[in-house]
Amino acid sequence: GAGAALAGRHVLVTAGPTHEPIDPVRFIANRSSGKQGYALAAAAVAAGARVTLVSGPVTLPAPAGVSLVRVETAREMLEAVRRALPADIAIFTAAVADWRVAEAGAQKLKKGPDGAPRLALVENPDILATIAGDLAHRPALVIGFAAETEKVVEHAKAKLARKGCDLIVANDVSAESGVMGGDRNRVHLVSRDGVESWSEMGKAAVAHALIARAATMLAPR
Ligand code: C5P
Repeated sequence: GAGAALAGRHVLVTAGPTHEPIDPVRFIANRSSGKQGYALAAAAVAAGARVTLVSGPVTLPAPAGVSLVRVETAREMLEAVRRALPADIAIFTAAVADWRVAEAGAQKLKKGPDGAPRLALVENPDILATIAGDLAHRPALVIGFAAETEKVVEHAKAKLARKGCDLIVANDVSAESGVMGGDRNRVHLVSRDGVESWSEMGKAAVAHALIARAATMLAPR
Protein backbone atom coordinates (compact mmCIF):
# COMPACT_ATOMS: atom_id res chain seq x y z
CA GLY A 1 0.00 0.00 0.00
CA ALA A 2 0.95 3.68 0.00
CA GLY A 3 2.44 3.31 3.49
CA ALA A 4 5.07 0.91 2.19
CA ALA A 5 6.14 2.50 -1.10
CA LEU A 6 9.69 2.79 0.25
CA ALA A 7 9.81 -0.34 2.43
CA GLY A 8 13.35 -1.71 2.52
CA ARG A 9 14.80 1.47 1.07
CA HIS A 10 17.29 3.85 2.68
CA VAL A 11 16.57 7.56 2.23
CA LEU A 12 19.19 10.16 3.11
CA VAL A 13 18.15 13.78 3.66
CA THR A 14 20.29 16.84 4.38
CA ALA A 15 18.60 19.80 6.03
CA GLY A 16 19.10 23.15 7.70
CA PRO A 17 21.88 25.70 7.40
CA THR A 18 25.53 25.11 8.12
CA HIS A 19 27.48 27.21 10.59
CA GLU A 20 31.00 28.16 9.54
CA PRO A 21 33.16 29.36 12.41
CA ILE A 22 34.90 32.72 12.38
CA ASP A 23 36.35 32.14 15.84
CA PRO A 24 35.19 30.04 18.84
CA VAL A 25 32.15 32.28 19.47
CA ARG A 26 31.19 33.61 16.03
CA PHE A 27 30.00 32.01 12.82
CA ILE A 28 28.63 32.61 9.31
CA ALA A 29 25.14 31.19 8.81
CA ASN A 30 21.92 31.70 6.85
CA ARG A 31 18.17 31.79 7.46
CA SER A 32 17.32 28.20 6.51
CA SER A 33 14.79 26.78 9.01
CA GLY A 34 15.19 23.11 8.04
CA LYS A 35 11.40 22.72 7.83
CA GLN A 36 11.20 21.28 4.31
CA GLY A 37 13.99 18.77 4.94
CA TYR A 38 12.54 17.61 8.26
CA ALA A 39 9.11 17.24 6.60
CA LEU A 40 10.70 15.13 3.85
CA ALA A 41 12.41 12.90 6.39
CA ALA A 42 9.10 12.38 8.20
CA ALA A 43 7.31 11.65 4.92
CA ALA A 44 9.96 9.08 3.97
CA VAL A 45 9.46 7.33 7.33
CA ALA A 46 5.71 7.32 6.68
CA ALA A 47 6.43 5.65 3.32
CA GLY A 48 8.26 2.83 5.10
CA ALA A 49 11.87 3.86 4.45
CA ARG A 50 14.82 3.76 6.79
CA VAL A 51 15.78 7.43 7.01
CA THR A 52 19.01 9.20 7.88
CA LEU A 53 18.65 12.95 8.41
CA VAL A 54 21.92 14.88 8.38
CA SER A 55 21.07 18.26 9.85
CA GLY A 56 22.79 21.54 10.44
CA PRO A 57 21.83 23.58 13.51
CA VAL A 58 18.05 24.12 13.65
CA THR A 59 15.49 24.35 16.44
CA LEU A 60 13.23 21.56 15.14
CA PRO A 61 12.70 18.28 17.02
CA ALA A 62 13.88 15.06 15.34
CA PRO A 63 11.01 13.45 13.42
CA ALA A 64 9.93 10.12 14.95
CA GLY A 65 11.71 7.12 13.50
CA VAL A 66 14.53 9.08 11.87
CA SER A 67 18.20 8.51 12.52
CA LEU A 68 19.39 12.09 13.13
CA VAL A 69 23.02 13.10 12.65
CA ARG A 70 23.75 16.63 13.83
CA VAL A 71 26.55 18.61 12.21
CA GLU A 72 27.65 22.22 12.13
CA THR A 73 29.90 22.87 9.14
CA ALA A 74 29.69 21.97 5.45
CA ARG A 75 32.72 19.73 5.76
CA GLU A 76 31.15 17.86 8.67
CA MET A 77 27.95 17.51 6.63
CA LEU A 78 29.80 15.97 3.68
CA GLU A 79 31.59 13.57 6.02
CA ALA A 80 28.31 12.53 7.70
CA VAL A 81 26.64 12.02 4.31
CA ARG A 82 29.51 9.82 3.13
CA ARG A 83 29.31 7.74 6.31
CA ALA A 84 25.53 7.30 5.85
CA LEU A 85 25.85 5.86 2.33
CA PRO A 86 24.79 3.63 0.62
CA ALA A 87 21.31 5.03 0.10
CA ASP A 88 18.63 4.45 -2.53
CA ILE A 89 17.49 8.07 -2.52
CA ALA A 90 19.41 11.17 -1.42
CA ILE A 91 17.59 14.47 -1.03
CA PHE A 92 19.71 17.57 -0.48
CA THR A 93 17.65 20.32 1.09
CA ALA A 94 20.39 21.81 3.26
CA ALA A 95 21.32 25.45 2.70
CA VAL A 96 25.03 24.78 2.81
CA ALA A 97 27.19 27.87 3.27
CA ASP A 98 29.02 28.56 0.02
CA TRP A 99 32.10 29.85 1.86
CA ARG A 100 33.92 29.36 5.10
CA VAL A 101 36.59 31.43 6.77
CA ALA A 102 39.96 30.21 5.53
CA GLU A 103 41.56 30.15 8.95
CA ALA A 104 39.05 30.41 11.77
CA GLY A 105 40.64 31.96 14.86
CA ALA A 106 41.55 29.54 17.64
CA GLN A 107 40.83 32.37 20.09
CA LYS A 108 38.14 35.03 20.05
CA LEU A 109 39.09 37.85 17.69
CA LYS A 110 39.75 41.05 19.62
CA LYS A 111 39.10 44.64 18.71
CA GLY A 112 42.38 46.40 18.20
CA PRO A 113 43.99 49.56 16.90
CA ASP A 114 44.21 48.16 13.34
CA GLY A 115 40.45 48.27 12.76
CA ALA A 116 38.16 45.46 11.59
CA PRO A 117 39.67 42.06 10.72
CA ARG A 118 39.72 41.04 7.06
CA LEU A 119 38.22 37.58 6.75
CA ALA A 120 39.56 35.52 3.86
CA LEU A 121 36.88 33.12 2.59
CA VAL A 122 37.36 29.82 0.78
CA GLU A 123 34.77 27.70 -1.03
CA ASN A 124 33.04 24.87 0.74
CA PRO A 125 32.63 21.48 -0.95
CA ASP A 126 29.41 21.09 -2.94
CA ILE A 127 27.90 18.09 -1.16
CA LEU A 128 25.20 17.39 -3.75
CA ALA A 129 27.58 17.61 -6.73
CA THR A 130 30.19 15.51 -4.92
CA ILE A 131 27.78 12.67 -4.13
CA ALA A 132 26.02 12.81 -7.54
CA GLY A 133 29.41 12.53 -9.24
CA ASP A 134 30.76 9.74 -7.05
CA LEU A 135 29.77 6.90 -9.34
CA ALA A 136 30.86 4.16 -6.94
CA HIS A 137 28.55 5.43 -4.19
CA ARG A 138 25.89 7.42 -6.04
CA PRO A 139 22.35 6.74 -4.79
CA ALA A 140 19.98 5.59 -7.57
CA LEU A 141 18.02 8.79 -7.18
CA VAL A 142 19.69 12.12 -6.34
CA ILE A 143 17.44 15.11 -5.72
CA GLY A 144 18.58 18.69 -5.23
CA PHE A 145 16.77 21.84 -4.22
CA ALA A 146 17.17 25.26 -5.75
CA ALA A 147 16.21 28.35 -3.84
CA GLU A 148 15.98 31.19 -6.32
CA THR A 149 14.75 34.75 -6.18
CA GLU A 150 14.34 35.16 -9.97
CA LYS A 151 14.26 33.09 -13.21
CA VAL A 152 13.46 30.10 -11.01
CA VAL A 153 13.00 27.42 -13.69
CA GLU A 154 15.80 28.67 -15.95
CA HIS A 155 18.30 28.59 -13.10
CA ALA A 156 17.03 25.18 -11.97
CA LYS A 157 17.62 23.68 -15.43
CA ALA A 158 21.21 24.88 -15.38
CA LYS A 159 21.62 23.52 -11.87
CA LEU A 160 20.30 20.07 -12.85
CA ALA A 161 23.07 19.74 -15.41
CA ARG A 162 25.79 21.33 -13.32
CA LYS A 163 25.14 19.22 -10.24
CA GLY A 164 24.52 15.94 -12.07
CA CYS A 165 21.33 15.13 -10.17
CA ASP A 166 18.12 13.49 -11.39
CA LEU A 167 15.66 16.08 -10.15
CA ILE A 168 15.79 19.68 -8.99
CA VAL A 169 13.01 20.95 -6.79
CA ALA A 170 13.00 24.67 -7.39
CA ASN A 171 11.26 27.26 -5.27
CA ASP A 172 10.95 30.99 -5.15
CA VAL A 173 12.48 32.34 -1.96
CA SER A 174 12.18 36.02 -2.80
CA ALA A 175 11.09 38.00 0.26
CA GLU A 176 7.55 38.37 -1.18
CA SER A 177 7.13 34.59 -1.40
CA GLY A 178 7.35 34.04 2.37
CA VAL A 179 8.83 30.57 1.73
CA MET A 180 11.99 30.89 3.79
CA GLY A 181 11.04 30.14 7.39
CA GLY A 182 7.38 29.87 6.40
CA ASP A 183 5.14 26.81 6.32
CA ARG A 184 4.08 26.90 2.68
CA ASN A 185 5.90 26.24 -0.53
CA ARG A 186 5.35 26.38 -4.30
CA VAL A 187 7.73 24.14 -6.19
CA HIS A 188 8.71 23.35 -9.74
CA LEU A 189 10.07 19.87 -10.51
CA VAL A 190 12.82 20.11 -13.09
CA SER A 191 14.18 16.89 -14.61
CA ARG A 192 15.59 15.84 -17.97
CA ASP A 193 11.98 15.07 -18.96
CA GLY A 194 10.85 18.65 -18.46
CA VAL A 195 9.25 20.91 -15.90
CA GLU A 196 6.24 20.28 -13.71
CA SER A 197 4.90 23.15 -11.59
CA TRP A 198 2.88 22.27 -8.50
CA SER A 199 0.38 24.57 -6.88
CA GLU A 200 1.18 26.13 -3.53
CA MET A 201 0.80 23.80 -0.55
CA GLY A 202 2.08 23.29 2.96
CA LYS A 203 5.64 21.99 3.33
CA ALA A 204 4.29 18.69 4.74
CA ALA A 205 2.10 18.22 1.65
CA VAL A 206 5.05 19.03 -0.63
CA ALA A 207 7.09 16.45 1.28
CA HIS A 208 4.51 13.67 0.94
CA ALA A 209 3.93 14.36 -2.75
CA LEU A 210 7.65 14.48 -3.41
CA ILE A 211 8.33 11.23 -1.59
CA ALA A 212 5.51 9.57 -3.56
CA ARG A 213 7.07 10.87 -6.78
CA ALA A 214 10.54 9.70 -5.76
CA ALA A 215 9.16 6.21 -5.08
CA THR A 216 7.76 6.03 -8.62
CA MET A 217 11.09 7.20 -10.08
CA LEU A 218 13.03 4.38 -8.40
CA ALA A 219 13.45 1.32 -10.57
CA PRO A 220 11.48 -1.57 -9.06
CA ARG A 221 13.53 -4.33 -7.47
O1 C5P B 1 24.12 25.92 -5.96
P1 C5P B 1 23.02 25.97 -4.97
O2 C5P B 1 23.51 26.20 -3.57
O3 C5P B 1 21.89 26.87 -5.30
O4 C5P B 1 22.42 24.49 -5.02
C1 C5P B 1 21.44 24.08 -4.15
C2 C5P B 1 21.44 22.59 -4.01
O5 C5P B 1 22.76 22.10 -3.83
C3 C5P B 1 20.67 22.15 -2.79
O6 C5P B 1 20.15 20.85 -3.05
C4 C5P B 1 21.76 22.11 -1.73
O7 C5P B 1 21.43 21.27 -0.65
C5 C5P B 1 22.94 21.59 -2.52
N1 C5P B 1 24.25 22.07 -2.05
C6 C5P B 1 25.12 21.21 -1.41
N2 C5P B 1 26.36 21.66 -1.03
C7 C5P B 1 26.73 22.94 -1.25
C8 C5P B 1 25.85 23.83 -1.89
C9 C5P B 1 24.62 23.37 -2.27
O8 C5P B 1 24.77 20.04 -1.18
N3 C5P B 1 27.94 23.34 -0.86
